[in-house]
Order: sequence, then C-alpha cells, then structure tokens
Amino acid sequence: MAFEEGKAISEIGMLVKQLENKNEIDKAGIVKLLANIDATPIYNAADRVRKKFVGDNVHLRGLIEFSSHCCRTCFYCGLRAANNRIKRYRMESDEIIGCATYAVKCGLKTIVLQSGEDKFFTVNDLCKIVSKIKDMDVTVTLSIGELSRDEYSALKNAGADRYLLRIETSNEKLYECLHPGMSYKNRVRCLCDLKELGYETGTGCLIGLPGQRVEMLAEDLLFFKKLDADMIGMGPFIPCSGTPLACEPGGSIDIVLKMMALARLLMPDINMPATTALGVKDNDGYRKRLNCGANVIMPNMGISEYKKLYAIYPGKGEKVENTDNQLKAIKCLILDQGRSIGEQYGGRSKIGIK
Ligand code: 5AD
Repeated sequence: MAFEEGKAISEIGMLVKQLENKNEIDKAGIVKLLANIDATPIYNAADRVRKKFVGDNVHLRGLIEFSSHCCRTCFYCGLRAANNRIKRYRMESDEIIGCATYAVKCGLKTIVLQSGEDKFFTVNDLCKIVSKIKDMDVTVTLSIGELSRDEYSALKNAGADRYLLRIETSNEKLYECLHPGMSYKNRVRCLCDLKELGYETGTGCLIGLPGQRVEMLAEDLLFFKKLDADMIGMGPFIPCSGTPLACEPGGSIDIVLKMMALARLLMPDINMPATTALGVKDNDGYRKRLNCGANVIMPNMGISEYKKLYAIYPGKGEKVENTDNQLKAIKCLILDQGRSIGEQYGGRSKIGIK
C-alpha cells in the first residue's frame, strides 16, 4: 500500500513537471490531476508559469453590464428570458459612455461591455458606442453573445479589440441540454469567426454543472488549447432561483482553482481573470485565484443601482460597493499579494516574459 501511494505521488509529480516544462498533457493526465486530492503542487507550478510568462502585473478591466435583457433561455442563468422574477434594466448609450469615461479617468485601460443577448440594440448602435469608447484610447472588449460573422466583423471595424464568449461546456450533448434552441456547432462557429476576424478571443466554461463529469472538464481545457484562446474565464456553477437548475448542487471551489491552474500550465501566456462567481462563493476568492494562475481582475464600473439587477446567479451584486471603494480594495489586494497593477492595455503577448 505504501509503495502504491508512493508510486501515485511520483506519477502526479511527473505529470505536473511535464506540464510545467512542456505545457502539454493528454486527457487521461488531466483527469488524474483533477482527481488528485493535494492540489498544492499544481497551484505552485501554475504560479511559477504565470510569473515566467505574463509577469506580476494584474490587469484591470472595467466591466460595464449594460443590459440584463436576454432572449435566451439557458437553464443555469438567472437572466434567462423566462425568468419573470427579476427586474430588468437597459442602460442608455449616454450612461454607458459616462461609465466608460469614469473608468478611463480611474486609469483603466480596457473597457468590457457585457449584456444579455438583448436584441434592442442594433449592431449599428453598438458600433457607435464602441467607436466613442475607442476615442478614449482604451481597448474595448465585447461580451454580448452569439452574432453573425458580418456583425462581428462590423464591430471589429468599429474598433472592438477583444470578445468574450464562453463555450460553457465543450460537451455537445450537455451543451444542447442546457441551451434550448441553441446549437453547439453555432457556438463553435462564433468562436472560430472571432479568431479569424482578429479579435483577441476569450472563452471558458462553467464548472460543476449537473451531468458534467471530470472527463468533460478535461476536454474543456483541451478545447481551449485547440482554439488557441487568448483569454479563459471559468467559474463555479451557482444554482439560481427562477431557473430549471435552482435545486441542483453547485460547483466546488477546489475544482475551479485546479481548472484555473491547469489552464495556466497548458496555455502559459493567456490572460485569465479571477472571476466574480468564485468571489461570491468564497470571500478570499480573489487572493486564491491570483495564486493559481489568474492575472486579470474585472472591477464592475457600472451604475450601482443596476449592478444588483444583473442577477446571473444569487449573491452577485449583493456586496455592491461604491465603485471607488471597490477599485481601491482590489488595488490593495493586488499589492498585498506582492503583485503590481498593469498600466498598459494588457493584451496577450505571445512572446512572454522570460
Ligand atoms: N452560475 C455561475 N455562472 C453563471 N453564468 C451564467 N449563469 C451562471 C450561474 N448560475 C456565467 C456564464 C456566462 C457568464 C456571463 O456568466 O458562464 O457565460
């Protein structure tokens, strides 16, 4: 037994070493690492790789959640069209520009515009907003769901630089169970179009979804690598009232941290945010994630009264702080961790810091 345990430990050690040195691993290897109880060696290796490839800077992205209206009915999401328990809002163009102006004044170099799939805004409206924000000398990231290639192209021409669209799960069957009326193939088409059009492209998954097995999580990581994603956002599934999955168990923090560490080891130069969903589940979330490979934080620069209405999952927006205090707290936390605050646009640099 002792011999068997010793063998198991050394096998894990070898897998971590191989990942750290070559940034390669197969599905069986990922499954072994995800199932392994002691994650400390994985976290430590991810932290070293993060430091070597993207340095100590933590980039701040100013998030503006500009509309909570959504035409989709994703089973897990509180913003699903069928959820009539929530109050919806939609910001005016001027309000969006106002928030972006303030974020820029605070020193942020990236503005992220996120919303439900709200068909009220035409692509032309959005292009105007993007181009006004681009005039402020910042990078613009969009996170507004599935569009046609032409629409993505128009937004790119208006100045958008990056796009976030999570695959949510790379398992086609599970994807289609959770997203009525949507197709996995179209989701992948969107991601391929975004890459081809020259967007820095972000994707990611939910962790702990009902029916999701550890093998599927391993496949998610391999999917991100194959796509050559520039950014990866992952968080635990948090059951939300008013959705069909309200009574299901949520995802665990440990598996999310392991997934983040493995993403960093597999894709050493990506940008990876410490996402809000983990902060909701764990007060110490940001610090833990910064030590498991994350190098981005997205402070919410929206209007306070709207923040709590962007109710993707419970708990989000409950701790709504005034924007200045929130920014100050995030900056303190970064410096406390011995990290620095990114002052450039903070795009993906394929060269890396050696
Ligand atoms: N729990 C955690 N994350 C969620 N998201 C949507 N609903 C939930 C939930 N219940 C995530 C999705 C989406 C992102 C904006 O929010 O992954 O892509």
